[in-house]
Amino acid sequence: MTTERRLRLPGIAFGGDYNPEQWPEEVWAEDMALMREAGVTMVSVGIFSWALLEPSEGVHDFARTDRILDLLHGNGIAADLATPTAAPPAWFFKAHPDALPVDRDGRTLSYGSRQTFCPSSPAYRTAALRIAGALAERYADHPAVAMWHVHNEYGCHNAECFCDTSAAAFRRWLKTKYGNDLNALNHAWGTSFWSQWYYDWEEIIPPRATGADPNPTHRLDWRRFCSDELLSLYTTERDVLRRAAPDLPVTTNFMVMHNFDALDYWRWAPELDIVSNDHYLRSTDPQSETDIALCGDLVRSLAGGRPWLLMEHSTGAVNWQPVNRAKGPGEMRRNALAHVAHGADGIAYFQWRAAKAGAEQWHSAMLPHAGTDSRIWQEVVRLGADLRALAEVRGSTSPARVAVVWDWNARWALEMPCQPSGELRFQDLVRDWYTPLWKAGVAVDFVRPDAPDLDRYQLVLVPSLYLVDEGGAAGLAAFVEGGGTLAVGFHSGAVDENCHVRLGGYPGAFREILGVHGDEPFPLLPGESVGLAGQVPQDATADLWTEHIRLTGAEAVAAYADGPLAGVPAITRHAYGSGTAWYVATHPAPTTLAAVLGRVREEAGVRPEREVPAGVEVVRRRGTGADYLFLIDHTGRGAEIPADGVELLTGKPVVGSVTLPAGGVAVVREPVAGPGGE
Ligand code: GLA
Repeated sequence: MTTERRLRLPGIAFGGDYNPEQWPEEVWAEDMALMREAGVTMVSVGIFSWALLEPSEGVHDFARTDRILDLLHGNGIAADLATPTAAPPAWFFKAHPDALPVDRDGRTLSYGSRQTFCPSSPAYRTAALRIAGALAERYADHPAVAMWHVHNEYGCHNAECFCDTSAAAFRRWLKTKYGNDLNALNHAWGTSFWSQWYYDWEEIIPPRATGADPNPTHRLDWRRFCSDELLSLYTTERDVLRRAAPDLPVTTNFMVMHNFDALDYWRWAPELDIVSNDHYLRSTDPQSETDIALCGDLVRSLAGGRPWLLMEHSTGAVNWQPVNRAKGPGEMRRNALAHVAHGADGIAYFQWRAAKAGAEQWHSAMLPHAGTDSRIWQEVVRLGADLRALAEVRGSTSPARVAVVWDWNARWALEMPCQPSGELRFQDLVRDWYTPLWKAGVAVDFVRPDAPDLDRYQLVLVPSLYLVDEGGAAGLAAFVEGGGTLAVGFHSGAVDENCHVRLGGYPGAFREILGVHGDEPFPLLPGESVGLAGQVPQDATADLWTEHIRLTGAEAVAAYADGPLAGVPAITRHAYGSGTAWYVATHPAPTTLAAVLGRVREEAGVRPEREVPAGVEVVRRRGTGADYLFLIDHTGRGAEIPADGVELLTGKPVVGSVTLPAGGVAVVREPVAGPGGE
């Protein structure tokens, strides 16, 4: 049995979801010819094909899949073979209606779409393992199969099921967590409040719709349970596949993208041989390139710094937003190569051929409805050539000296009802801090709060960490004591892992290292803002949040210039141990925050990868014998950037500087840079 299962494909993998079962077989030959023209090297097959693979319970029909895999192999294209368990067939639900999920309001949902099943249903689990096992047995040794793709986007549509079966599974999970001690649960959940004390495990139910606000710890444990429950579905399928094919890597596609928060991917990632991710743009996001970078860095960090695969994104418009914006010329290329810059060793799309029928008929694809006589197809072919030119980048990593703390427990807790402000969104707060670093060309890793190796970094940023346990708080304190620079955002450290307020003053867990004492939050109303004065740019402002703090060792870097807290410190700096800890007790406007974090970064001795004009993204990947400097123009004007080496996309030598075309990308192979970046 191998311990390290890697994708054994040369270069950067290129492809998409391939659903030939939706087309007459005459079309398949054209698919192969066009895939070869575009340079496709791997496709994901069979993702939603359960109903065709198993026409009735226990009866399998693999003839079509045999032909598809043979055809792919004959054309030199690898298969990322999926288990189809995200879409159980209608016959399954006719036989097992109790496997249908129930929503928070008690409504049983119907089949007829996808991902509509109860994750705790024994019948679903049996059926899923049966089809996964049959596939594994039949195709473990098929030469086309390079990787298993388990299920699809766990939790996308059914992260929570509130039925009685789920309730029983939740109780089992709680009994394990609390060592069968109901009193321990009562204390952790604070159930002496509102007469919620439980005398019998059977009294505990999921946080179904109820008249008033939910118990936050009940809700938090429920979210942890839901993530773990889906994870157990993944690991049981994975184990079936591994038994049949011990050397093949197994993945499932994550959804590290805006607004999806159902799964604690820190717990999931170690269970995957290769981390893969799906990422889609929001039409309403004016700066979606920041989201690509942030999510790419987070996925790379989940993968332990190793390269990952972009399993899905779109060549153009999606079909599930109120208005689905098409991508402009060159945008798809910038998007794809940005994912590579942030660590992707594979670029894939949903999907290969645009569907004619079904709910996704208006979703873009690599091969549009219009066929090859289309701009998208031309860009796809060009991208295939680009990725071939970047083959040597495969396997390279991204050295970072700044870590940003990210935690799903803190995210879930922060966005629970009944906070001092209902306006706080974890990912927005993190992105606010990430953006100025990204704009400045500073490489960033994401870490969990209790990361054991923080001393690898010079600077640790904690934009938002409402909930933190003792281990996380102690690790961050040790980092500062040991000489590191830490910056903490408002309303952090406020509660422990049970959502209990840390008493004695805010920001609870971080009071001592930050050298401040807070006694009252003063959140601002939407549209309200306050001025900041001190060592901040003129006319500095903040919105969303202010709080009353006093200094207990820290110095004030800025104070409120007006508003209810005029004169109160808003941004502080504290020498602690051998290091420095900053507190940003408010939500500064973007330019103000950029200035503050710029100073924090400079004091910590962290420099950009390269000085570049505003609007040019710069990212470095480090190979064994070379660095790869990715330059992406988001200005539409292009730029001349100092560099020496070879520009891989054109193959041209670079002497002194490289020309970055308007809206274009350059990737310069350079000698390995010193430890400080440049
Ligand atoms: C998700 C799914 C795909 C497809 C795309 C459309 O990512 O995994 O099957 O539905 O969305 O954007």
